[in-house]
Amino acid sequence: MFAATEAPLLAVENLRLTFSSGTKTIYALRGVDLTLQRGEILALVGESGSGKSVTGLSLLGLHGKNAALKGRIGFDGRDLSALSDEEMRAYRGKRIAMIFQEPMTALNPVFTVGFQLGEVLALHRSLTGDAAKKAATELLGKVGIPEPELRLKSYPFQLSGGMRQRVLIAMALAAEPEILVADEPTTALDVTIQSQILRLLREINEREHMAMIFITHDLGIVAKLAHRVAVMYAGTIVETGKVADIFENPKHPYTQALLASVHDAPRGQKLFAIPGSPPPLTALDEGCAFAPRCNFAEARCRQAIIPQTDGDRLWRCIRA
Ligand SMILES: Nc1ncnc2c1ncn2[C@@H]1O[C@H](COP(=O)(O)OP(=O)(O)O)[C@@H](O)[C@H]1O
Ligand code: SF4
Ligand SMILES: [Mg+2]
Repeated sequence: MFAATEAPLLAVENLRLTFSSGTKTIYALRGVDLTLQRGEILALVGESGSGKSVTGLSLLGLHGKNAALKGRIGFDGRDLSALSDEEMRAYRGKRIAMIFQEPMTALNPVFTVGFQLGEVLALHRSLTGDAAKKAATELLGKVGIPEPELRLKSYPFQLSGGMRQRVLIAMALAAEPEILVADEPTTALDVTIQSQILRLLREINEREHMAMIFITHDLGIVAKLAHRVAVMYAGTIVETGKVADIFENPKHPYTQALLASVHDAPRGQKLFAIPGSPPPLTALDEGCAFAPRCNFAEARCRQAIIPQTDGDRLWRCIRA
C-alpha cells in the first residue's frame, strides 16, 4: 500500500511549541518527532490536552500569534516551520489540508455549499464558471453526497452534521492535497454516521493515495482506520509503531494503560480511566512526564529518557 522505505513525505523533528499568556508559559509541545509516508494514515492519539490539535495546527502554521514554534517540519525539501505567513499560504489548504471536529464552525453559514467549494477551487486550482461547477459536483459525489448538483445550492444549516462533514472533506480534497490532517472529525457525529465518514476517509486514502494524520482520542477508530499510530502524552510522542504491533504488544506503560482502560470501559463510558491526570504543562523537567501515574516509576525515570527502538517501533521509557 505504501512503501516505508521511501523518504518520508513529512518529517517532523523536535517540534517545540510554547504559549505565553501573561506571566505563564505553557510548554504544549516538548519535542515531537513524527514521520508520515505517502499514502499512509497515521493516528495521533492521547488524552485531552496532550497536544494533538496543536501538533496538527503547527503543520499548517495555524498555531497562533501567542505561540513560539521551534524544530523542523520537513516537507518537500523545505522546513515549513521557518516559512513566513505569505510563503505558508502556498502550502496551507493546497498541499496540506485540515478538517476539524465541528463542521458548522468551519463552514460559512451565509454562503451556499457551491459558493464555498467554488472559492477553494478558484484559489487552489484556478477553476471558475462551468469548470468549477463541474468540479464541485464531482467532489460532492466523491464524498458520497446524494444529488450533488442540487446540494450545491444548499446552505450549511440545511444539511445534517454528517453531510456538513462530507462537505468539509470535499473542500479539503478540492485542492488535491498530499496530506489531510483530520482533527477528531467524527467526534461530534453519532456512531452510524461516524463509521460512514471513517469508511469514506479510508476509501479516499486508498483511491487517491492521500496521506492522513488522523487525530483522535478513540482507540477503536485507530484500530479501524490507521496504519500507524503515535501516542501522545504531555506534549511528546511516547510510543509509535504499526497499529497491529501497538495493540498486540504495547511497550510504554501509558499505552498499556490506555489500552487497558478501553478494554475495561463499560459501553458508552469515558474512554480514558487511568488514575490521576496529566501534569500541568507549565513546569516540566526532562524526566518522564508519566512518572506520577506510572506503576513502574523509579529514580532513573527522573532523568532525560532516551527513546528505545526496535525496527519501526519507538517508545520513550526506560523499560525494555
Ligand atoms: N491558544 C492557546 N493558548 C494557550 N494554550 C493553548 C492554546 N492552544 C492550546 N493550548 C494548550 O496546549 C495544550 C495542548 O492542547 P491541544 O493540542 O488542544 O490538546 P489536545 O488536542 O490533545 O486535546 C493544552 O494544555 C492547551 O491548554
Ligand atoms: S520512564 Fe519510568 S515513569 Fe516513565 S513510563 Fe517508563 S517506567 Fe514509567
Ligand atoms: Mg484537540
